[in-house]
Amino acid sequence: MEPEKSVSGRVFESAYMEWAKTRSRAKFNLATSGVPGYPLAGLGATLADLEINKSTSGYGFPPLQEAIGEEYGVPAECVVAGGGTSGANQYAMSLLLGPGDEALVEHPTYDILPNLALFTGASVRYFERRPENGWSVDPEELARLMTPRTKLIVLTNLHNPSSTLLDEATLTRIGEVAARHGALVMVDEVYLDCVWDARPRSAFHLGPNFLVTSSLTKVYGLSGLRCGWILAQPELAQRLWKLIDLFDNIPAHPAELLSVMAFRKLAEIRLLSRSMMDRNRAIYREFVEGPGAALRGGVPEYGTVVFPELPVADAGEFCDILRHQFETTVVPGTFFGMPSHVRISLVTQEETLREGLKRIHAALTMMRH
Ligand SMILES: Cc1ncc(COP(=O)(O)O)c(C=O)c1O
Repeated sequence: MEPEKSVSGRVFESAYMEWAKTRSRAKFNLATSGVPGYPLAGLGATLADLEINKSTSGYGFPPLQEAIGEEYGVPAECVVAGGGTSGANQYAMSLLLGPGDEALVEHPTYDILPNLALFTGASVRYFERRPENGWSVDPEELARLMTPRTKLIVLTNLHNPSSTLLDEATLTRIGEVAARHGALVMVDEVYLDCVWDARPRSAFHLGPNFLVTSSLTKVYGLSGLRCGWILAQPELAQRLWKLIDLFDNIPAHPAELLSVMAFRKLAEIRLLSRSMMDRNRAIYREFVEGPGAALRGGVPEYGTVVFPELPVADAGEFCDILRHQFETTVVPGTFFGMPSHVRISLVTQEETLREGLKRIHAALTMMRH
């Protein structure tokens, strides 16, 4: 996959994000990856719960630090606040990478991850997650790609775009490969909380060379709070806080207060998200397993999105036709470096999904005749 580059060879944009912000809207929008907005009223907050400025100074808002720490069973000193997972990824990569370094990033990928690495002046190499291998990661392939310059392995769990859950044994082996080269592993776990049954441990618990980023955004419909975090060993956490002094100084305090309230209701919010995803997964399964179904690829057990392959030569043309003639959007696989695939949302209203899928079928039928 070729990321966009400036003349200096560095990357200053995300083609995917630009598309998502300007061209993904449609009557039947199946291009989203996060649960739709959880309402402010649901948190039960009143004006009396809010304040503009924090009464204590220092690093992090202690009640929020503790809430995040408790959620993971880690001490608050391992928690660093970031603006959403986006901020967390930006801080972590800015600290850990620089000119002359190399990051190993999964492919297909959320394009912001390699682009952030390139932005630091580091170079990027990709390791493959192949549909024929269940989108898993082969630690042996990683071992072959490692060089003395590799400082960071970057992956997502659940995987964006395939929603594949990487098992703990594979993650542990990835950690061992990294450790042999003195490298760290950064796991973006923004989608991991939609594994409802037997919730896996965060990769943070798998060894001292793992760091993890996540947020209250995708699974909880609380994106506007921009509550995100990095889990890192205490010494690294300290260095991250110092870096944040350069970038952001402090977060918006009303959002911190609301985030603490959200943590108190997290189990309840998660149940709502679960019922939406369970219902939509069943609708999608019925669609892809039904007669005349043309999308290839299984249905992942968890996650907010699916990433099937299309039976047409040009998925880009398909996405254009779908948008302009059928008022429906899905994310073109080109943004993930897999042009024959599309990413379809499982976090929409039921009717939007049902109608959007019908329209996908109609557009495919039209293109094949
Ligand atoms: C893998 C991944 N990480 C991070 C983000 C951004 O998350 P946030 O809204 O928490 O900043 C996204 C959004 O699509 C994502 O897919």
